[in-house]
Amino acid sequence: CQWQDGRPAKQRLLVVANRLPVSATRKGEDSWQLEMSVGGLVTALLGVKEFDARWIGWAGVNVPDDVGQRALTKALAEKRCIPVFLDEEIVHQYYNGYCNNILWPLFHYLSLPQEDRLATTRSFQSQFDAYKRANQMFADVVNQHYEEGDVVWCHDYHLMFLPKCLKEYNSKMKVGWFLHTPFPSSEIHRTLPSRSELLRSVIAADLVGFHTYDYARHFVSACTRILGLEGTPEGVEDQGKLTRVAAFPIGIDSERFVRAIDLPLVQEHMKELKQRFAGRKVMLGVDRLDMIKGIPQKILAFEKFLEENPQWRDKVVLLQIAVPTRTDVPEYQKLTSQVHEIVGRINGRFGTLTAVPIHHLDRSLDFHALCALYAVTDVALVTSLRDGMNLVSYEFVACQASKKGVLILSEFAGAAQSLGAGAILVNPWNITDVAASIKYALDMPSDEREKRHQHNFKHVTTHTSQEWAATFVSELNDTIVEAQLRTRQ
Ligand code: ADP
Ligand code: G6P
Repeated sequence: CQWQDGRPAKQRLLVVANRLPVSATRKGEDSWQLEMSVGGLVTALLGVKEFDARWIGWAGVNVPDDVGQRALTKALAEKRCIPVFLDEEIVHQYYNGYCNNILWPLFHYLSLPQEDRLATTRSFQSQFDAYKRANQMFADVVNQHYEEGDVVWCHDYHLMFLPKCLKEYNSKMKVGWFLHTPFPSSEIHRTLPSRSELLRSVIAADLVGFHTYDYARHFVSACTRILGLEGTPEGVEDQGKLTRVAAFPIGIDSERFVRAIDLPLVQEHMKELKQRFAGRKVMLGVDRLDMIKGIPQKILAFEKFLEENPQWRDKVVLLQIAVPTRTDVPEYQKLTSQVHEIVGRINGRFGTLTAVPIHHLDRSLDFHALCALYAVTDVALVTSLRDGMNLVSYEFVACQASKKGVLILSEFAGAAQSLGAGAILVNPWNITDVAASIKYALDMPSDEREKRHQHNFKHVTTHTSQEWAATFVSELNDTIVEAQLRTRQ
């Protein structure tokens, strides 16, 4: 261990993810405004404070000129962020195309409509080439900033080609890769034309991590069935080289949420919300407006609940906060109009002159407003059709210390494995089941709510993002030491 100011120096960590924790908007030739990015990956990694970390990624904006690039690099350096500049064509082919139109739906078991499927088949090769080029650009930036002893932690489906590129630069680099989405069954993964190349690149890493044991198992089966490698209890072995594969369930910085509830600003927001919705139970959905989140299914289940329970119609309100995401991808545009159409129809059907049953906002909320909303909620609805973990469910639980509201949670979210005993688990495709669960949650006696909440609260406050990152990095260091010992033997 190295020393700094009489204390052991923190481990230097290069976090590499497609998206930086801040997204940039240009305000002038050389001035930039930075705003927090939204998404589970950013939320979890912001809670990681035990390391001397730098974050390498894309700032979500095209910057074609040198003046702009220099100014943005300087502004980001203050946030310990290092930009990778991607031009419009690469973003179109790599991010909108290969990442979000091919890998994302495939990993979440969602099929594209027939016409999109054919178009995707035609453009597949050019998008995959762009994906590899983009990954190489990330590798170049990592390589420029790498210092001996650094841990390089690559994240998510955008960067599956990165471990291989990094090891080609320097085989001694300590490289970990973590997937924030589910990894599909090998039967699904094998339909991907680039199936082998992607797997081979990932296993160039020293440690490969997933949210759940099931996703890790799917990955190992894909390597054994598609690449013909040997799966071992530790991971995957290729000609004597072991890549360790394991589950590292992510968490949140729970203390930040628990503490926020007592802040005067949050209390003020809570007071306003309580006045605004006095006499009604509050149900809440907070999601990126993404097809995996099952937002139309959630709203249809709420409609069914209102249909079957007229006594509740003027006593409950559903607040759905859905921040737009990946708006250049046609599937996401279609989803937005679909959700608007359903919400409009249901509000027309059940609304009165003074109140509507669904408040749908297409926007993100700031941290304090979000915490207040979580805290005043009676029932949270997380109905993902499939979701790597789902941190909204964790955030809701962390903010419910006094209210002890009920969490209705999709059995297809990774979080079902950790919060399953406290939540009401549902199949989001079965809207009759979800409607019945809404009724059950609203009628739930306080002792049952208390018991369920305690179970979840304990999990969320003990399995934090800090613990997740510390475990991953220490396992990565151990893996490398063990590999060195094995080669010496
Ligand atoms: P995903 O990573 O797929 O977006 P998660 O539930 O794991 O799903 O993480 C979503 C993160 O984004 C959470 O930290 C949540 O607070 C934040 N988020 C999602 N929607 C909104 C919104 N409308 N306003 C503010 N934050 C949001
Ligand atoms: C999920 C992905 C992240 C991604 C986030 C937001 O959480 O796992 O990698 O950053 O969604 O999506 P976006 O495309 O806006 O980065």
